[in-house]
Amino acid sequence: MNIAIVGTGYVGLVTGACFAKMGHNVWCVDIDKNKIEGLKCGIIPIYEPGLEEIVRTNYQCGRLKFVTDLSECISEVNFIFSAVGTPPNEDGSADLKYVLAVAKRVGELAGEFPVKDVIFVTKSTVPVGTAEKVKNVLYSEIEKHHKPISIHVASNPEFLKEGSAVNDFMKPDRIVVGVEYESDKEQFEYLYKPFVVDNPGKLIFTDVPSAEMIKYAANSMLATRISFMNEIANLCDKVGANIDSVRMGIGTDTRIGKKFLYAGCGYGGSCFPKDVKALIKTGMENGEDMLLLNAVEKVNREQKSLPLVKTREELEGFTGKKILVWGLAFKPETDDIREAPSLTVLESLALESATVYAYDPVAKVNTNVYFTRRFGNAHYALKNINYISDKFDCDDCDAIILLTEWNEFRDIDWDYVKEKFPSCKVVFDGRNIYDRKEVEKHGFKYFGIGK
Ligand SMILES: NC(=O)c1ccc[n+]([C@@H]2O[C@H](COP(=O)([O-])OP(=O)(O)OC[C@H]3O[C@@H](n4cnc5c(N)ncnc54)[C@H](O)[C@@H]3O)[C@@H](O)[C@H]2O)c1
Repeated sequence: MNIAIVGTGYVGLVTGACFAKMGHNVWCVDIDKNKIEGLKCGIIPIYEPGLEEIVRTNYQCGRLKFVTDLSECISEVNFIFSAVGTPPNEDGSADLKYVLAVAKRVGELAGEFPVKDVIFVTKSTVPVGTAEKVKNVLYSEIEKHHKPISIHVASNPEFLKEGSAVNDFMKPDRIVVGVEYESDKEQFEYLYKPFVVDNPGKLIFTDVPSAEMIKYAANSMLATRISFMNEIANLCDKVGANIDSVRMGIGTDTRIGKKFLYAGCGYGGSCFPKDVKALIKTGMENGEDMLLLNAVEKVNREQKSLPLVKTREELEGFTGKKILVWGLAFKPETDDIREAPSLTVLESLALESATVYAYDPVAKVNTNVYFTRRFGNAHYALKNINYISDKFDCDDCDAIILLTEWNEFRDIDWDYVKEKFPSCKVVFDGRNIYDRKEVEKHGFKYFGIGK
């Protein structure tokens, strides 16, 4: 099949590369000319295990192409996927301007160029009702050209996880497709057949609004589990219980299950925070007060500040202190820092005049770009953040704050830490990967999350 994927970010590039690997012809379209030129030269704009090889081999054999406008492929494609971003507006709602811009462009081009029976598929995460908005924009453009074209719309939300995106796409738990017309199912069955050979039942068809809702409901459910465990962990701290024991004790109940029960310093990333907020907004717009999700959001906001609260108290303020921060990405195996706890922690440390030594194996550049934009070049706080190329690359420090559980942080020689950082008093373990006794044995004050 011939497929256009519009938006070549985390989702678009992985989707395009994986469709190409399975034998489809794919045009990855992005308005970012530098990104497209870079991809043609083999420069992968994101860090995602396994992706580079698939992009390289499929580009070389011509199944994967990179273009800056849909006009280069619209006449040839059976599917146009929108995989552009849907960032949050100020009020928490999803900003649909990129998705609607794609719809407008498709409408314009469909008027000018010959097109097949193409299906416009929204892969971006969009609130219920977006397909209707897409259709309005699409058809108002097509009508200008007085051509009898019918473009169907469908919703195919993406569930891949950054860090294991290729594997998730190639071996999905399920693929959800919301269609308007029964006849469109066959096209999707053909498209996704190679991905569900082990179990065709994984391809789930629904109506369009349900597919749109499924994505938000799934992410909000996962975010709820995390905030729930964080709240229980904070109570464990007060009453002397251990969240790891509690997790094992409840996770073995098959009705609950073991996954997503880890307490930590809050969820981040490009999906959970914005999707929870957007669902709350959809609730408000429809007269449904989302009491539970408002609490999930509040718990998460406070959880991100926990490393600051505990460490500040122990060090009696941050001014003039040296703080070593391990992990900037919102989770391991990605360079994505969107809404990461590190942003909350670094911002306060820098504003409170600590000297920060920040280390992450892949997310330093993104973090530097973020704070340069956020503070501006001349701001005093910007100079308080130093990005280091090794996790021990500073002379001394007063505290170590771990925020991302990269494997390289797991096995720490605390004798070495003691010797290297004689002033270090505090180890804040924001992901519960260290053994309290082991850390305390070396004379550090240990803080975990509920243990
Ligand atoms: N990142 C994830 O883990 C993930 C997982 C599931 C779903 N999603 C959803 O998928 C969508 C995309 O997320 P992402 O993280 O891949 O975004 P991203 O910001 O990494 O990529 C979006 C890309 O779209 C391009 N773009 C914007 N407008 C365009 C236009 N008019 N024409 C062509 N290209 C355009 C941008 O230049 C950018 O390269 C979002 O709705 C997100 O919520 C993301």
